[in-house]
Amino acid sequence: MREVAIIGIGMTEFGELWNKSFRELVAEAGIQAILDAGIEGEEIDAMYIGGMSTGRFVGQEHVGSLAVEVAGLEDLHIPATRVEAACASGGVAMHQGYLAVASGMYDIVVVGGAEKMTDVVGREATHILASAADREWEAFFGVTFPGLYALMARYHMHKYGTTQEQLAMVAVKNHYNGSLNPKAQFKRKITVEDVLKSPLVAEPLHLLDCSPITDGAAAAILAPLDLAKKYTDKIVKIKASVQACDTLSLHSRKRFDSLPAAVHAAKKAYEMAGIKPKDVDVAEVHDCFTIAEIIAIEDLGFVEKGQGGKATEEGLTSLDGEIPVNTSGGLKAKGHPVGATGVAQINELVLQLRGEAGKRQVKDAEIGLAHNVGGSGGTCVVHILEAV
Ligand code: COA
Repeated sequence: MREVAIIGIGMTEFGELWNKSFRELVAEAGIQAILDAGIEGEEIDAMYIGGMSTGRFVGQEHVGSLAVEVAGLEDLHIPATRVEAACASGGVAMHQGYLAVASGMYDIVVVGGAEKMTDVVGREATHILASAADREWEAFFGVTFPGLYALMARYHMHKYGTTQEQLAMVAVKNHYNGSLNPKAQFKRKITVEDVLKSPLVAEPLHLLDCSPITDGAAAAILAPLDLAKKYTDKIVKIKASVQACDTLSLHSRKRFDSLPAAVHAAKKAYEMAGIKPKDVDVAEVHDCFTIAEIIAIEDLGFVEKGQGGKATEEGLTSLDGEIPVNTSGGLKAKGHPVGATGVAQINELVLQLRGEAGKRQVKDAEIGLAHNVGGSGGTCVVHILEAV
């Protein structure tokens, strides 16, 4: 297997982008990444594009071919594949791109992710998102994602004494970080009181405990490490890329206070990278709901099981904490265009590791970790990156 590097990144602004079409989002992120890497379009060997439900959100399937057309690469007939794994579609696309380069099959690979979710009304978006749960045994009976994560939150609160305020502190931290990110959907700071006063969506989760409905796209260019130097000196190495799966339904899961696929993927990723959780300088984790970040920092081994709420309250994961988490604003404030999220997390880590994260820069960041989850934990992808 060859070592793989990220040589370029690109990302649109996230938000309600009424003035841009789905194909414009794909093009914008892709062009930014190509320019950033300093490659010619003709050098691209393959593409992997994450998209969760493009057919239902904007009526567009066959996204691989669309990406080739918007890139103007049709005459080269390069293979472009759409990848679907719910909210982990982007992370799985990264994993596929990594495997393609590591195996020696391709040299220059574009990994992308795109979703345009605000063209449907809120209720329809909830219905579409629920198709990433178990349609027959969960969604059919009316369970939504806020509902599933509310069950996990309630259990965590019952078992470990995690408080509503500690959940809210995740949102407060991530909105603060989002206020420093020009591409974030929400750039406004909020308080714990704001979260607790916001409408209940699924008890105990309030509106401000939830990630929003978002439009956006992100891209990254991968190359073998030894070839990367030909293009750029801003190289970030992929030290580990691991995907793990679990039951689709939450009720079939052996535990409710953890995502076992995340624990498994993280363990294998640390082994592959030859590092320990304490070596991670900055992490982007899948905070689709505030409880998800608390469970994530426990599953990743940053804190003991049950201590995620307390650690958040004590500032461990703040921008100036020991392990800053979701410096981009996370899914909560940066936004969560489901198919793009996994690649957007990689964008943030690359900025951090290149020292280009501006006001939210983590000092001397050398190792970054991305944790991307599909559904209620049926798929999880962990990437570990290192500044070269
Ligand atoms: N965080 C912060 N503000 C939010 C928000 C969020 N998650 N969602 C909406 N808002 C804001 C809007 O900007 C709007 O503000 P404005 O009045 O100043 O313009 C206001 O709240 C109302 O927005 P609206 O779109 O009517 O909210 P909604 O009630 O239809 O939707 C949620 C709110 C939480 C239900 C929706 O964002 C949601 O379903 N989120 C979860 C998405 C999800 O499940 N993703 C997959 C995870 S696995």
